[in-house]
Amino acid sequence: MTTVAGTPAQDDDEALILEMVRDLVAEKVAPRAAEIDATGEFPWDIQKLFAQNDLFGIPFPAEYGGLGGTFRTYVKVVEEVAKACASSALIIAVQELGMLPIMIGGTEEQKHRWLPKIASGEWVAAYALTETGSGSDAAGSMRLRATKDGDDYVLDGTKIWITQGNIANVVTVFAVTDPEKGPGGISAFVVEQGTPGFSVGKLEKKMGIRGSPTVELVFENCRVPAANRLGPEGDGFKIAMKVLDKSRPGIAAQALGIATGALEYATNYLKERIAFGKPLAQQQGLQFMLADMKTDVEAARLLLYEAARKCDEGADDITTWAAMAKLRCGDVAMSVTTDAVQLLGGFGYSTEYPVERMMRDAKITQIYEGTQQIQRLVIARSMVGKWRPPSN
Ligand code: CAA
Repeated sequence: MTTVAGTPAQDDDEALILEMVRDLVAEKVAPRAAEIDATGEFPWDIQKLFAQNDLFGIPFPAEYGGLGGTFRTYVKVVEEVAKACASSALIIAVQELGMLPIMIGGTEEQKHRWLPKIASGEWVAAYALTETGSGSDAAGSMRLRATKDGDDYVLDGTKIWITQGNIANVVTVFAVTDPEKGPGGISAFVVEQGTPGFSVGKLEKKMGIRGSPTVELVFENCRVPAANRLGPEGDGFKIAMKVLDKSRPGIAAQALGIATGALEYATNYLKERIAFGKPLAQQQGLQFMLADMKTDVEAARLLLYEAARKCDEGADDITTWAAMAKLRCGDVAMSVTTDAVQLLGGFGYSTEYPVERMMRDAKITQIYEGTQQIQRLVIARSMVGKWRPPSN
């Protein structure tokens, strides 16, 4: 029987960090959440608050400027922030997403060059995989080309849906170096803001996570030193997938936090609101809804913490567990927030109450970092393998 507990020292550190995060969220993040959603502006004050309190480098080694904490602590921090503000939680999750390719594929020199600035929050990081024709089919439809030219690569093409791409100091870009080799012809490059030929295109207008900018990135004759390539040429897709194995639990944590926040709000509302002579919370039909929501949230939490524990241990089935955690937490976030809106009735549909924002924010957790359908595909492939046509 496996458990989600850590060592006593890890548990003590984690308890202190979470207590600090709960205070920060209550004092600084929760009061800003509605405004961040309404204005759709990136909350630099919250980004700086997280940097000052060392929340960006939690699961990364101290030698690269991280805190050397556990992955489990990291997901719990994202969850705590997401209870109040999904856009703010995403700042931490995307910084981790942007840091992971360097951590996984970088040389010692590359890690020392970039990670300390990202871990401290001095620099913002982003991850650029998706293209117009290449979302779920990330490898098969990738078109952005990187052509070797002397000591450089020249990047040409466009990425879309890049979270924080417009504010990132450093972006890992996945590009085709050999179109004949399929996934084995993709390589990863770190591109710094200000590199000639690298620009920001369209800013998306979105249903939720409105405080988190999502943009198009354009590369036109963009020259990147070969020294910025992560890993050997052709290793880019595997790096991208290994990153998602560790970043999907962060999105699961965001989803779980949103669900927990909505459930807490709806429960308190039902205790206060009187109808038919007693609090709504005492109506059995609504109690049954609350009980189902609570059970779904706690089951999702156990799955996520177990996935995080496997990340900490470097387990070989992390791909499957990350996908299961993201699948279940995302679906629970959607159903619980939808029910929370229902429980508040007309007030739930009003922007004066937070649950409609939570419902809009929940939706993206079923789409980004791999749709729920892709998570199912990943899980099923771990059970039955990927089918390949027989070669004659
Ligand atoms: N770890 C290591 N290697 C892996 C891997 C993993 N988790 N997954 C696949 N690979 C390897 C395979 O072993 C294979 O290598 P070999 O040929 O040597 O065996 C190679 O990569 C190709 O793998 P597949 O044949 O499985 O590739 P595929 O084309 O069938 O696609 C997929 C696999 C799972 C569908 C993948 O394309 C995928 O995950 N798609 C979804 C993309 C996604 O999640 N995008 C999110 C963008 S980021 C984002 O959303 C961030 C944000 O905004 C916040």
